[in-house]
Amino acid sequence: MRTRHRVVFQDAADLSFLEAASVELVLTSPPYPMIAMWDQAFSRRDRRIAPALREGDGWQAFGWMHEALDRVWREAHRVLRPGGFACIVVGDAVRSLRGRFALYPNHARILQALLEIGFTPLPSILWRKQTNAPTKFMGSGMYPAGAYVTLEHEHILIARKGGPRSFTAIEEKRRRRESALFWEERNGWYSDVWFDLKGTRQERLSASGRDRSGAFPFELAYRLICMHTIRGDTVLDPFLGTGTTLRAAAAAGRHSVGCEIEKDLRAEIFADPARWLPAARHRAASRLEEHRVFVAARRASGKTLLHESRRYGFPVITRQESELWIPLPAAARREAEDLWVVSYDEPPAPPAAADPPAGGPAPPGRLPGRRRRRHPPPRQASFTWDESG
Ligand SMILES: C[S@@+](CC[C@H](N)C(=O)[O-])C[C@H]1O[C@@H](n2cnc3c(N)ncnc32)[C@H](O)[C@@H]1O
Repeated sequence: MRTRHRVVFQDAADLSFLEAASVELVLTSPPYPMIAMWDQAFSRRDRRIAPALREGDGWQAFGWMHEALDRVWREAHRVLRPGGFACIVVGDAVRSLRGRFALYPNHARILQALLEIGFTPLPSILWRKQTNAPTKFMGSGMYPAGAYVTLEHEHILIARKGGPRSFTAIEEKRRRRESALFWEERNGWYSDVWFDLKGTRQERLSASGRDRSGAFPFELAYRLICMHTIRGDTVLDPFLGTGTTLRAAAAAGRHSVGCEIEKDLRAEIFADPARWLPAARHRAASRLEEHRVFVAARRASGKTLLHESRRYGFPVITRQESELWIPLPAAARREAEDLWVVSYDEPPAPPAAADPPAGGPAPPGRLPGRRRRRHPPPRQASFTWDESG
């Protein structure tokens, strides 16, 4: 198995290098309007922005900055296939202009744009960042009626192009079953508040001259990709930055394409695979290890696991997990200036069909020796799903 990862260095307002309906997920974090580090980038796109900021007209600047992003959201909608997802990581901004402190609600403005473009908004995730400075405050300090709440979260907006994706081809249905998440991952990852992800250390990007990279954590991208795509799908990041989405897609066995306006980031994006491939492989492999730990803990607490992974042989909770396998990236090769090709270990083979035991074969993925229940098992806490999705 191989995946391809391509980067195009240009303005994402024009994604005409991609055909309509050609990607399954848009995962990105744009430059955040009204956060000072992105003022220049926006001012280069629209010459009205810098004077508006100088004159203290924050709302006018905010509007024009978002108009620049709207063009990219429209392109994202065009290139997504029906049923494909958009996951947009964005923080709101707080800023004082002409002595007037205000919140600029980027997440609300982007959601409004997605609605107008025709996306279907879905429940979103609040990424509560772990902070090293819990006592920092804004405004009047200890005096009430003038101090402000600290912003320590970002939003992960989730929207879909139209209704649920249809999986009709046999091969695609199989890839979907093989891309299943573990039950325990599903329970944690689909929570609407993520507390466990630290922000990425904001390295100074010497090549681009930028003070901070603005990168999101690898784990955030890896999870969102595993949650919203199946193996072999294509992920687009129109604001690729340092290439986190590209590396996470490679780790998950998905193809990716990125767009980035700053050519200086090429060296960062196409860094030596020795700098990122071992970590990507380790993250994928750790899912198996974490599952084994989960199984041991569940057994120790006297709970049963009724099903079996066909390829790994360990127990799993649901039948939906019985065919899953996790791609393990093994090598990355730069095939052209802006193209990586990543290869993977062979998947573990499913067990060869054995002679059926007397009384007929056990149903696939079910541990032998257990009889099928006539009634559904009692519902376990937070364990329901809607098959229509
Ligand atoms: C918030 S950063 C993305 C960081 C990325 N998620 C990562 O993990 O490194 C936004 C990126 O978008 C790029 N950018 C800004 N405007 C752009 C545009 N119009 N087209 C393409 N890229 C753009 C910036 O140069 C920056 O690298």
